[in-house]
This record gives sequence, C-alpha cells and structure tokens, in this order.
Amino acid sequence: MTATADISLSNSLGVASHTLFVCKTCASTWQDGKRLGESGGQKLLQHLQHLAQNWDLQDQFPIQEVECMSACNRSCVVAFAAKGKLTYLFGDLTVDDSAAAVLECAGQYYAKSDGLLPWSERPEPLKKGILAKIPPL
Ligand code: FES
Repeated sequence: MTATADISLSNSLGVASHTLFVCKTCASTWQDGKRLGESGGQKLLQHLQHLAQNWDLQDQFPIQEVECMSACNRSCVVAFAAKGKLTYLFGDLTVDDSAAAVLECAGQYYAKSDGLLPWSERPEPLKKGILAKIPPL
C-alpha cells in the first residue's frame, strides 16, 4: 500500500502544517524591566489576525505568536515555516503597513512545494528584511 501525504493542508493529526510565527515582543518600550503599553509586535499581530479573518488560507496557515525569535534589533519579525519547506525569517517590518504584504508573501510560500520565495516575487516590505532562509528537514 502506498501512503500519500498532503503536507500542504495538515498532518495526520489534523494540525495545519504551515505556521506564520509573529514576535509579539518586538518594538517594545521597557522601563524598569517592565514593558510600557503595547509593543509594535503586538500591534502587528493584531493587524495580521484582523486581516486573516478574510484570508483564504486562515485555516491552513495559522498565526502563532511567539515571545522572541532572537532578531530583536530588526523588529518587527515574522517567520514562515512548514513541513518539508524552507523556513524564512523576516525582519524590519513596519507595524502599521506590512500586514497585508506578510499575508501575500505567506500565500506565495504556501503555493510553492519547497517554499522558495525569490526576491523579485516577494512583496516590497519583505524584499530587504530577510534574516534567514533555513533548509527544510
Ligand atoms: S523581541 Fe522580537 S525577535 Fe526578539
């Protein structure tokens, strides 16, 4: 018997195989070890979550907030990851006007079997701030 796997949708547990990680700590203002107000990362996360409500891939490409991806001096930071695909880490994203470009680029990533995102095809806000392109497992 031959088993086939649709890694583009979900694994055998029904868990989406693509993830959009968003750092919620980026662009924070700190005072005495405590964050003041909302961080830029939290605002970007909210923009993404709002836009994703009407995104075709909202179920296949869930957004997951994370505390930090160790690119703190390049905020705001997001990453695309999926089984069998390249993992990308992007930084230097503006808080207020990059969310639509992030979802557009995530859609491009989703459509490619290897996740490859050529510079010329990426939306403008994700052309310069690439921080890592990690080979698939
Ligand atoms: S605070 Fe966002 S990457 Fe570290």
